Amino acid sequence: MNKNEIKEEIDRLIREIEFHNHLYYIESKPQISDYEFDVMLSRLQELENDNPEFAYSYSPTKRIGGDITKKFETVLHRFPMLSLSNTYAEEEIVDWENRIKKLTQGEIDYVCELKYDGVAIGIRYENGRLIKAVTRGDGVQGEDVTNNVKTIRTIPLQLKGDFPSDFEIRGEIYMPIEVFKNLNKEREDSGEQLFANPRNTASGTLKMQDSSAVSARSLDSYLYGVYGDNLFFENHFSAVQNAGSWGFKIPSSDKRFIEKTNTIKGIMEFIHYWDKERYNLPFEIDGVVIKVNDYQIQNELGFTAKSPRWAIAYKFKAERVETILESVTYQVGRTGAITPVANLKPVSLGGTIVKRASLHNQDQIEKLNLFLGDTVFIEKGGEIIPKVVGVNTLNRSASLTPVMFVGTCPDCKSQLERKQGEAQHYCPNDEKCPPQIKGKLEHFISRKAMNIEGLGSETIELLFEKGLIHTFSDLYDLTFDQIVNLDGMAEKSANNLLQGLGASKNVPFSRVLFALGIRHVGETVAKKLVNHFQNINALSEASREELIQVEEIGEKIADSILSYFSNANHLKELDKLILIGLQFENERKIIKSNKLEGQSFVVSGVFESFSRDELKLLIEDNGGKNVSSISSKTNYLIAGENMGPSKLKKAEDLKITIINEDDFKQMVS
Ligand code: IVH
Repeated sequence: MNKNEIKEEIDRLIREIEFHNHLYYIESKPQISDYEFDVMLSRLQELENDNPEFAYSYSPTKRIGGDITKKFETVLHRFPMLSLSNTYAEEEIVDWENRIKKLTQGEIDYVCELKYDGVAIGIRYENGRLIKAVTRGDGVQGEDVTNNVKTIRTIPLQLKGDFPSDFEIRGEIYMPIEVFKNLNKEREDSGEQLFANPRNTASGTLKMQDSSAVSARSLDSYLYGVYGDNLFFENHFSAVQNAGSWGFKIPSSDKRFIEKTNTIKGIMEFIHYWDKERYNLPFEIDGVVIKVNDYQIQNELGFTAKSPRWAIAYKFKAERVETILESVTYQVGRTGAITPVANLKPVSLGGTIVKRASLHNQDQIEKLNLFLGDTVFIEKGGEIIPKVVGVNTLNRSASLTPVMFVGTCPDCKSQLERKQGEAQHYCPNDEKCPPQIKGKLEHFISRKAMNIEGLGSETIELLFEKGLIHTFSDLYDLTFDQIVNLDGMAEKSANNLLQGLGASKNVPFSRVLFALGIRHVGETVAKKLVNHFQNINALSEASREELIQVEEIGEKIADSILSYFSNANHLKELDKLILIGLQFENERKIIKSNKLEGQSFVVSGVFESFSRDELKLLIEDNGGKNVSSISSKTNYLIAGENMGPSKLKKAEDLKITIINEDDFKQMVS
């Protein structure tokens, strides 16, 4: 293929991938399989790797992430990013509407919208291509988060249809509730501190340095405003509809996410509808926004210092109810973390019956100054997890006693510990405390860990109660007779379970490491450790300094790993698991090919997924040639962290293609 043909194919692939991306993520009507989509994307990536001059900033390969932003540059907004005046009182909406009617003549059209609870973003497009995405910041200037925003699948990189040549679109980036819950579940599994709510998590995610980590977090967006000098529409509603036709995700009229009305009655109906229905949305809203539709009238009304006069937000009150605190119990997690739980007289809140609420930790109980039998106020925090927000002390009788945080484990009665600087209490008896043992076993068999088919928490419970399992290795000693004699077990399910245990011996090392349940070692950390240390011996012998050198491993994780390997019982258990045949070594997948034939490579710097020698072996396995220094005949420089600047300069001077390890993985994948 000559360069022209290559460019044409790249252009065609970009168009086609964006087209199918739109069908999948915005219209929810995919026309091709995920596999076909991936094939196109790999082909595009391959062409871009080979022809970096055609690797465009708006290519859908950017959605996978990989670009690192070390420092987010500050950018001045072209149009200030104002906020909305808001109210919790319906009367103030009535007053606002009356004021508008007085200041203008004739009938007024209003647009009612949801007030998405996320992070505001302004995205600039020139000639249909995404140029820059900037956070709100202080309204005058914000931060350039372009690389991260490009990973959001519902934000088009290349527009279709009839769009203005230069404009900015504004909207909200949010984390869907389901994504938030799954993320927190993963964090709970690895003993990490949970995120507070979807909004803060979306905001934190948008500021992550590694865009591939952002890509994995599945953020979403709704766009609600178009700004520019020569726009060709006359009102807000039609601007939003037009933006939809260029490929943006816009609110659906069918679902009443956006609605036009010309009466206060219509506005109030919208407010009342969403005050109830908000709990059924897949994302969080904190109110509704009412805007004057016509741009001309908007201009006449103008702005106050902080916000437009033509719009107002009605914020929902967090629904709050009173109920009685009947008791406080304590849950023991698999890492020994103790969580106090308020048991309440059942009460209806936000469409569900609430019986329990988290009290987080001792400090929280003391801050609330809780007494058993108190009348407490309950709110849906971040609309998801109910929490106790206060006490109605007027109702407190003299006979009540204060809630005292437990000193010993509710299950095994060990003295609880609290590390300096941490809010959480822990039960230190990790080898004998029943909920910890069961929790660890449940984690070990779970889908993302050993994924043992035919075994679930109920069976773990039964096996534990019968005294048949205590450690992970005990699972592999189970006999057919022991299993088949359990309640509700038939021959077939017993065989399935044994087969599942057998199959788990092929689970790769990184998942085995995750399955061990070392505090703070989640899936990602386990992968990083395995890539760095390659086998359990090297990991178990690593010093604190060596551990901290690994990307994403800080002091807290390093100390937890050291403490795990300093325990003789853990080492004994590991020996057993090794004998059983679980994987404790990183398997280098040898896929021989001639994909790199005729190409010469210089490898320089430090890599995340390979040692330099492994990388060199991979090059040879795929038909490429390793050379030690750069010359005009070198085809590629694979550049890792901390490579020497002189090598880099030489490669640039000689116009050698410089790639990173992800590019290389794509080349041989
Ligand atoms: S319009 C000049 N519409 O609410 C006013 N804002 O204080 C431009 N928000 O941070 C904003 N949903 O990000 C508008 N449908 C919506 C919105 C919305 C959420 C956010 C916005 C801003 C805050 C306004």
